[in-house]
Amino acid sequence: MITVTLVRREMREGRVNMELNDTIRTTFAARDYTGEELPDEILYDILETARFAPSGGNRQGNRVIIVRDQATKDCISDLNIPAAKRYVAQVKAGENPWNAVVPMKVSDAEIEATEPASLLTEPFKTASVVLVFLVDLKVVASVDQYLDRIGIISGASIYPFVWNVLLLARQAGYGGSITTLAVTQEPAMRELLAIPDNFGVCAVVPLGKPVKQLTKLRRLSVGEIATCESFDGAAFEKLQGEN
Ligand SMILES: Cc1cc2nc3c(=O)[nH]c(=O)nc-3n(C[C@H](O)[C@H](O)[C@H](O)COP(=O)(O)O)c2cc1C
Repeated sequence: MITVTLVRREMREGRVNMELNDTIRTTFAARDYTGEELPDEILYDILETARFAPSGGNRQGNRVIIVRDQATKDCISDLNIPAAKRYVAQVKAGENPWNAVVPMKVSDAEIEATEPASLLTEPFKTASVVLVFLVDLKVVASVDQYLDRIGIISGASIYPFVWNVLLLARQAGYGGSITTLAVTQEPAMRELLAIPDNFGVCAVVPLGKPVKQLTKLRRLSVGEIATCESFDGAAFEKLQGEN
């Protein structure tokens, strides 16, 4: 209890014992949990700060459902299975899973015969809490809606909030993962959690005390993701002599 009080006080006063830089560099997809509880007091403080995330036009269509009931968490876990089977089958076939541009070559029969990886389904059962993030489609700005490609911009009004939650959970010594596979079963999620029609499910985040805190994440370098002046411009590399 002393730890909870201390973490809460430090979070409120904005001096949790971790630099933002370190937090960003070490917030990984935590899927194995010790079973220790993430208390409501700490979760409240996480949301209290995370809510300062931006949204298009500051419309704030973000909502979150806090799920602690084990039967509901088990149902959410099951709702990941169909999409997880396809995910695993496509990875095995060397494809980028669930991509909307390159057509899938894996057959329905192959998907059906594939076992869903437990890391894609178990975390919802074993997490202390599962957060279901929603956005109000009646207020969200979707400025790419007329483009001839899959929509991206609507998500930009919710994922900063989701990521704030994960960064703050990391600072408080907890962890979880953005997950999206259950969203393929949105009608069932809607029924399970009494979600109104105008809300879209954006992410399902299991949270708990991670068994291990990873510190080295595999990410592309700046030179691999940033170019100067145009897409085909020079890679943006570190200046010679800089640390
Ligand atoms: C948009 C998005 C969707 C994701 N969906 C899932 C998911 O459905 N299930 C899952 O286990 N992880 C999911 N992840 C987690 C990613 O697999 C994870 O962030 C990535 O592999 C990096 O992991 P690391 O931070 O541990 O290196 C998702 C992440 C993002 C950003």
